[in-house]
This record gives sequence, C-alpha cells and structure tokens, in this order.
Amino acid sequence: MTTSSYLTTPIYYVNDRPHIGHAYTSLATDVLARWRRLQGRRVFFLTGTDEHGQKVEKAAQDAGMDPQAFTDRVSQHFRDLTATMGFSNDAFIRTTEDRHKRACQALWEKLAANGEIYLGAYEGWYAVRDEAFYGPDELVERDGVKYAPSGAPVEWVREPSYFFRLSNWAERLLAFYDANPDFILPAGRRNEVVAFVKSGLSDLSISRTSFRWGVKVPGDDAHVMYVWLDALTNYITALGWPDETAEAWTLWPAEVHFVGKDILRFHAIYWPAFLMAAGLPAPQRVFAHGWWTNEGQKISKSLGNVIDPVALVEEFGLDPVRYFLLREVPFGQDGDFSRGALVNRLNGELANALGNLANRTLSLIQRNCEATLPAATEPAEADAAMVAQLAALPGVVGAHLDRQEFHLALEAIMAAVRDANGYITVAAPWALKKTDPARGQAVLRHLHDALRVFATVLQAFMPGTMAKLLDQLGVPEAARGLDDLATPLPAGLALPAPEPLFRKIEATA
Ligand code: ME8
Ligand code: MG
Repeated sequence: MTTSSYLTTPIYYVNDRPHIGHAYTSLATDVLARWRRLQGRRVFFLTGTDEHGQKVEKAAQDAGMDPQAFTDRVSQHFRDLTATMGFSNDAFIRTTEDRHKRACQALWEKLAANGEIYLGAYEGWYAVRDEAFYGPDELVERDGVKYAPSGAPVEWVREPSYFFRLSNWAERLLAFYDANPDFILPAGRRNEVVAFVKSGLSDLSISRTSFRWGVKVPGDDAHVMYVWLDALTNYITALGWPDETAEAWTLWPAEVHFVGKDILRFHAIYWPAFLMAAGLPAPQRVFAHGWWTNEGQKISKSLGNVIDPVALVEEFGLDPVRYFLLREVPFGQDGDFSRGALVNRLNGELANALGNLANRTLSLIQRNCEATLPAATEPAEADAAMVAQLAALPGVVGAHLDRQEFHLALEAIMAAVRDANGYITVAAPWALKKTDPARGQAVLRHLHDALRVFATVLQAFMPGTMAKLLDQLGVPEAARGLDDLATPLPAGLALPAPEPLFRKIEATA
C-alpha cells in the first residue's frame, strides 16, 4: 500500500453555477481524503475549474462578458462551494493559470517529440455541450437535428486540426486494463470501456481553429488545444509537472480520479493514452459514479429543478446532507434525490439511532458516574459480541473505502450502531445503578468505547458533528486517528454534559 494518496475531482466547467451533482463528486473525494488522513497517510486532494473551450466562451458571450472576467466570477462559486460543503481540498486549480498553460504546452511538445501528433483536417460531428466528437453511428436524429447519446445536439465541424495517434494505443490500453483490473470501477463501467476500445479507436482531434479561447498550440498560433487535452492535464499541473523534480510530483500517480459516468471515456481512454504516449505513469484508478435525478426527473436548468447544495445545507445542516448523499445510493449507481428520503435518514439513523445512543450513554455517565469515564474492564459474555464487532469495524470500513463503496461503509457503521442500541436496551444500565453498580459502570464504559469508534470512523463523513461528539466523549484532538483507537482513554476522565448532535425534522408531505 502506498503511504501517500493523490485524489482528484473533475474540474468543473464554469459555464454555470454548481449544483448537487458537482457537490456529490467532490464530497466522495473529500470523504476518501479525510479517511486517508485518519489512517495517517499524506494526502493531496485537488479540485478546481475547467475554464477554456467553446462552451465556456459561449457562456461568456451570452453573459456579455470577457471570457477571463466571466471565468473569474463563476470559478469563485465553485470555490465557495468547497467551504459550504466542508471540503478539505489542499488546492484549487484553474485552467487559465499560467502554470497550467505551460504544463499543457510541455505535454504537447512531449507528445509531438514522440511522434504521437500529426497535422490533418477534422471533418465530423461535435457537441459543444459535451465538448466531444461523435461518430455518425452514435447519433440519433429528431426534427432534423442530430443528437449525441448524452442528449446534446451536434454540429458539423470542418477545420484544420492536429491529431493524436489514439488508434495506435488500443492494444496497449487493453493490455493496461488487463494488468490493472481495478483501474476502472465499478466493474460494469469497466466492461463498457473495454468493449468500446475493442471496437477500435480513431485518432483524436486535439486542436481547434474556429475559436480562440484556449491554450495555444506551441509553434502554431492558429490552433488552440482541444479543451479535454487541456483539462485532463490539470491533474499533473497541480503537482508541479513538467518539473519532475518537484516535491509534489512524488504524489503521482493518482490513487483515484473521481468522475461522473458522463466523462469516463475521457478519463479511462484518452488520459492514460496521453500519459503513456508521453512516457508518464497512468493513474491507479478512475471511479465513475452514477447520475442523480430529482424526485424522479432529470436535473436540468430548463426543468427548473436544479438542486442547490447551499439551500440544502441551510435547511438540513451540512453533515446530514453529506451523510445522506453517500448513504442513500450505492456509489456507482444512479440515484434519485428525494426530500422524504433525506428526512427519513436524518431522523431515523442520525437523530434516533446515533444521536440518542450518544445522548443516553453520556447522560447516564453524568448522572451515575459523577461525570467521569468509568474504568475499562474485561468484556463479560454479554459484551463480547459488541466488543468484537467494534474492534473489526475500522477494518471493515477501510476495506469498503479502498474500493469507494461509501454506501457499504456507512451500512456497516449503521449496523453496528443498531447493535449498540440493542445492547443498551438489553443491558439497561439505567436500572443497574441500584442493583449492580459495578456492572452498570462496565456497561457504560463499553458504550462509551463504542461511541468513540463510531465517532472516529464517521469523522470522514461528518467531520463537524463528529468533532462535537469526540469533544463530548473527552477524546483529545490529538487522539482522533484510527491508530489511536488502540489506546484506551484513561478512567476518571472528566466528561462535559452532552448536547444533542442532530436536529430532527418534522416530516412534510
Ligand atoms: O465535464 N449527477 O465538467 P462538468 C451526478 N469540465 N453527478 C453530476 C451530475 C448529476 N446529475 N451533474 C454533474 C466536465 N455531475 C469537465 C470535466 S475533468 C478533467 C473535466 C458531476 O461541469 C459529475 O462528476 O460538466 C460529472 O462528471 C461532472 O459533474 C461534470 O461536470
Ligand atoms: Mg457536463
């Protein structure tokens, strides 16, 4: 296992404001980044904005603004979102930065020097919305307009263009997928990519001459680079490339590029091909998650049902939203956003199951143990199952997170929380104060230990609320990593009076 982790989100187009889909990908990245830090790893978590290309240029024109001023403004909304969502990104990259333009040009020069680029002319279909080329067989026609599989309209483009010899890379890509069976997750998506590559790859047009908003092709000012070559390069720009002696470059290759399924082809085919053609190592993994709909409908501006993450966080609180997004839908599959489902998870799992367990346990410690932590004791028979389950829990969660199975990690934690609630009901520590005070103390200590495990592992998902719980549990800030769980807290630790962790929401129709 590597001891450092480089984790990335897509860089988002600045043609529009961020919505729940953007928040979702970055949230998943954030949770894995936080988990890796809890494991003691060095982490570099990158997000940012994709600011060149025809689509952004058009959006700037529509807004009546100069493209740079326009991207400055919209990029800031994405930066603000990282604060709203509590993301722990180490950097925020913009493709209009000079260092990035230099990296793109260096990559181009390397590809050219390796004989991977030639000048030709592109003639074919292009979808500005996807910034992607499509073959005629991929299109459908409605009312005289042709559409890509994504639903984006395409236009016929004919212009001089440089090409990347992608057709030469099909065999090597297939060998690479074979040697790295987990390069593309989930597995179903991997099969789609493999089938696509097996069907043969055409050379890729990597420059445009019909507009100017892009990185200039070195040595040929008439061309700007295809926005996807520019955009993908961000992942290495951020580590200081082309300076391969840069300290940050030791973080390459990335552990996971998180992306939505819409942009898997770019990341799983073009990106490793560009890198291998430039003599650079390919990333370890691309994880393509599914698509959110809103109460059963496709999310779109024209339908007016875009979910604003800022409004959600204001209404439900940050951590319930973070929890819900990764709990509700298996990571990798499509999912439907529903307020009712969010309220159910918040009330049932966070406020009732976890919140009440913490509150009951900590209130009993206040009342029955003079507000100090009871001593740890050998587990009795009645405790053994819970104690064993808790000892195993961080490993179970970690194994799921190693494969980006956020939903399974949360399911495992919630199963343990349910069992701890079963334990407190059966052990009934509130009745033991009079009948068997020593046993009462032992039970409360086991419950305290359980809450410490839950709070420690859940920090990755709900950092703010779990910091509060760890405060209430008396866990010092310096002892909140996974390894610290091996060291029991000292008996006699003074504990503050508990406060509720989650606010229940009245269910509405
Ligand atoms: O494609 N459900 O940027 P983009 C889930 N700039 N995820 C969603 C979503 C939804 N309904 N809508 C958007 C680009 N996303 C390029 C990327 S990377 C080198 C360049 C998320 O602004 C999902 O991660 O169109 C998707 O892949 C991404 O936003 C697309 O963002
Ligand atoms: Mg898009």
